[in-house]
Amino acid sequence: MTYNEQFNPITIIGAGVIGTSWAALFLANGYEVRINDISETLEYDVKNGIKNIESTLKDLGYDTTDLYEKLIIEKDQYQAVKGAKIIQENGPENVEFKQNLYQNLEEYADEETIFLTSSSSIPASIISEKMHNPERMCVGHPFNPPHLIPLVEIVPGKATSKSTLIKAKEFYESLGKSPIILKKEINGFVANRLQAAIFQECVHLVLEGVVNPKDLDTVVDRSIGLRWAADGPFLSFHLGGGNGGFEHFMQHLGKNMPELWKDLGHPELNEENINKLIDVVNLDYGDTSIKILEEKRDHKQLKIIKDLISRGEDFND
Ligand SMILES: NC(=O)c1ccc[n+]([C@@H]2O[C@H](COP(=O)([O-])OP(=O)(O)OC[C@H]3O[C@@H](n4cnc5c(N)ncnc54)[C@H](O)[C@@H]3O)[C@@H](O)[C@H]2O)c1
Repeated sequence: MTYNEQFNPITIIGAGVIGTSWAALFLANGYEVRINDISETLEYDVKNGIKNIESTLKDLGYDTTDLYEKLIIEKDQYQAVKGAKIIQENGPENVEFKQNLYQNLEEYADEETIFLTSSSSIPASIISEKMHNPERMCVGHPFNPPHLIPLVEIVPGKATSKSTLIKAKEFYESLGKSPIILKKEINGFVANRLQAAIFQECVHLVLEGVVNPKDLDTVVDRSIGLRWAADGPFLSFHLGGGNGGFEHFMQHLGKNMPELWKDLGHPELNEENINKLIDVVNLDYGDTSIKILEEKRDHKQLKIIKDLISRGEDFND
């Protein structure tokens, strides 16, 4: 993690779940952070939100002594944006809202400002439709919570320039993240598409009565989840082929997969099935409070992340 002066100061537009988490991480990395949101209780919410994140930042190795020193709460959007090198936008996931917002932001921003949206589904080409210079805008999609999860998907719009993508990558790397630049726009980007594909089969298996949610979760976190925390699916199967690598894997086992693909479920998410899923998930997990489950999750994720980082391993290698 290396603070990079060319990205200072940063403006956060929209300080909800994602904006607050980004703000905490930017501050921990030494950046001046201006926060803009329409919320009446903005200052209280942001400071309280960052306070809740502080212990995780400490666990990640950040010195949080002066965490709030470079935090600026700015209700005036013009003042918040003027002079910012980076704008990380985290407003509501709504096309019209984002298009109008970017039209305004562009008017207030300096010429060299880079616009990054946390959008989890609306592509940059749509969001930037009303911009005069859409080449300086792209998606910088985090995985929640951004202060903890390493991945950021950088997704260009049709007009995004190469230099914007390179700067976005450098910026996220300066925060210790693992940014990946996608080669083109696609609905849901990559991580959420993979999650949706796997979850489709999870829902099918539970609705079919093959396995209950807690046991399915154990299947995942004791096997493919663990494997994929270390190496992704392609490297895992490269190794699954022994000395013959991916080629042997494909010829031996991989080529049979289409048979299984044909058999995968396409569950209907009608009201009856949704209620059935809610009932079985509550049966397995309803006895423990969400707060405790969240604390356990954060503790486990932090251990995995810290262990890989402390061994000097780069998630991208
Ligand atoms: N929550 C997630 O898991 C997640 C993950 C990745 C990406 N995202 C994306 O991040 C973005 C924000 O999501 P969130 O979950 O933080 O939403 P959120 O509802 O928690 O926060 C949105 C914030 O935007 C503010 N806002 C509304 N109008 C505004 C305006 N005109 N100017 C400034 N601020 C305004 C709201 O007051 C609110 O604080 C979305 O684009 C979403 O798709 C969310």
